[in-house]
Amino acid sequence: MTLVIPVISGTKGGTGKTTIAVNMSVLAAYRLRSSSPYPVVLLDLGVDNGTASKVLLGSLTKVNYTMSDYLTGRVNNPLYTLYLKSWLIGGDEMRIVFSVPGNVVEGVPLFKLKYALRTAMDYLKPIVVFIDTPSLGFTRQFLEPIVSEATHVVPVATVDHSSIESLASVVNFIRGVKGGINVLPPILNMFDQRYPVDPTTGKEWVKIVEESVGVKPYTVAYDKLMYTARQAMEVELLKIAPSESQAVMDIVKYFNEVLWPLINK
Ligand SMILES: Nc1ncnc2c1ncn2[C@@H]1O[C@H](COP(=O)(O)OP(=O)(O)OP(=O)(O)O)[C@@H](O)[C@H]1O
Ligand SMILES: [Mg+2]
Repeated sequence: MTLVIPVISGTKGGTGKTTIAVNMSVLAAYRLRSSSPYPVVLLDLGVDNGTASKVLLGSLTKVNYTMSDYLTGRVNNPLYTLYLKSWLIGGDEMRIVFSVPGNVVEGVPLFKLKYALRTAMDYLKPIVVFIDTPSLGFTRQFLEPIVSEATHVVPVATVDHSSIESLASVVNFIRGVKGGINVLPPILNMFDQRYPVDPTTGKEWVKIVEESVGVKPYTVAYDKLMYTARQAMEVELLKIAPSESQAVMDIVKYFNEVLWPLINK
């Protein structure tokens, strides 16, 4: 069975969903290289063209159709909105199939996202699909059709109350859409080990997340190198060593401990 894993946060933007979704996709593609033709699909649903797909597109500028073209009916087959990024690692090819969102306009029939996802799954037979979701008011509209197809979710928050509260509310919404959905340990991103306690409540941030979401989080460090690290992971697979970036190390730990055991079942 294909794993379908949206990376979500609440209404708060910039929590690191894209960074995490792309890095997880790269790690999975690396581990699953040569195990099947298209082991990893990354659905980029970021509004305003999306960041994940931009990173993967790199210098590949020719995009014929976007997800938005499909949602608005300009193209009927959602497979036309998918692109392939591949890397050669030794003798093996590492591959990620990804979508380009385009400018997703309001009022488009979002239920079609479900069909796009199913078509991609039927045709490509991926082992895992990661979904990079947008923030803002779009969250719930976008999440409804996607969550109904999801097997797990990766919740992401940053070290602040509004981010954690809005994440908790979206996780509750998701549990309402699909009872029994597997909410994986949340990621508490941009965490600074020197300041583990919230000064306003005197509680540890990790505890606050655990109480709000109901599952104990993993922390990903705040990391000045993240921008470089992102480039390293996403574009060339490590222009810098992962050990130079604490955040990348933390993401690798999450992948190894939480995701890989599910993927490799
Ligand atoms: N652990 C980290 N340490 C430092 N910077 C980070 C970290 N994680 C993400 N960032 C930076 O924060 C910014 C926002 O990250 P990202 O785009 O992944 O968030 P997002 O949740 O996808 O945002 P949006 O809601 O706009 O889609 C980026 O510049 C990214 O490089
Ligand atoms: Mg994003």
